[in-house]
Amino acid sequence: MDLFGNPFACIASLTTCYAGLTTVSLGMEILSASDKDLEKAAAALAKGFLVAFPTETVYGLGADAFNRAAVAKIFEVKKRPRFDPLIVHIADPDMLEKTADLSQLDPAARKRLSALTEKLWPGPLTIILPKQKTVPDIVTSGLPTVAVRFPDHRAAVKLIALFSGPVAAPSANPFGYLSPTRAGHVSDMLGDTVDLILDGGASDVGVESTVLDICGSRACILRPGGVPAETIEALIGPVASASAGRAAALASPGMLKSHYAPRTPVSVYQNGTPGSLPDEPGSALLFFDGASRDIWIGKKTAETKTASIAVLSEKGDLLEAAAKLFETLYGLDRPDIKRIHALLAPEEGLGVAINDRLRRAASDRD
Ligand code: TXA
Ligand code: MG
Repeated sequence: MDLFGNPFACIASLTTCYAGLTTVSLGMEILSASDKDLEKAAAALAKGFLVAFPTETVYGLGADAFNRAAVAKIFEVKKRPRFDPLIVHIADPDMLEKTADLSQLDPAARKRLSALTEKLWPGPLTIILPKQKTVPDIVTSGLPTVAVRFPDHRAAVKLIALFSGPVAAPSANPFGYLSPTRAGHVSDMLGDTVDLILDGGASDVGVESTVLDICGSRACILRPGGVPAETIEALIGPVASASAGRAAALASPGMLKSHYAPRTPVSVYQNGTPGSLPDEPGSALLFFDGASRDIWIGKKTAETKTASIAVLSEKGDLLEAAAKLFETLYGLDRPDIKRIHALLAPEEGLGVAINDRLRRAASDRD
């Protein structure tokens, strides 16, 4: 049996959807990220197949960004609404020019772009830029802008370089569900609907890239992620932050309130209040650090009723906690657990991205 009791088996039937498009599915194959496998994967992208690949943040579900039919398959497989645009992944400055029309940027935005790319690319930062006319509308959901990212991962960069073109890729999970940080998460969730999966081990960063819009008069973080706001502000000065809700969802459609969610309901609790987490049979507790767990255990007078207790980072390290977040939630998303009670991380650095994902996981899904 797979990790999830195979709740996503129904998605396998989507393979038949491919028949009407330009390619048929290869049937899923998991490859290592050796040079030979990367060549095979690049050839598959060129033929219009979908390739799931590792990045430093989470695994992506890639297709040739200029092949409309291949990109359409990404939306089918993920059951992703067409209004939610994709990130285009590049591996060199030429690909940036092929994807974004930098001539439309005013001098201030251009300055911000070079400061950011010089220090933070490759890395977990996605930049919203005016799009080149040639980028298909299906990639950008009809927006005049395109999201561009240069990942900091050997296999991802080599794959894109061998394919020699930009690769459109959302996270390789069904829409709204937890993002995958291992090849096994992708195969469990998407099964045969993906043609190839490159196994590059666990993703180091563990939360998705920060999405930053630099087109307006003031740069704005549309999604907190792997690069903390403080790091961006040190380079380009104060940035605005789109908060969750309708305005943010319109600016960046992936900012829908309920997102990044396990099937098990989640409740969140303020950082620094470990004593407020309940002790219930059939529930799991998720602590940010070992000290909070110890406070919770210290307050108990009888044996605990809680089914499972997890800690993101024993010593309270934000990098380690982010890297373990989705993987830990996967582990707790199982039939014997009826609710996950999660203590939020400190609201600073990567803690902002961790808390954003936990709060979204806790939002109602209607
Ligand atoms: O770390 C990551 O960013 C991963 C890896 C695979 O690179 N990708 C990822 O993609 O998280 P996805 O599709 O799950 O999230 C992309 C986010 C969504 O919130 C989407 O709405 C936003 O980027 N986005 C894409 N294009 C946009 C645009 N033109 N304007 C505003 N937001 C955009
Ligand atoms: Mg995603």
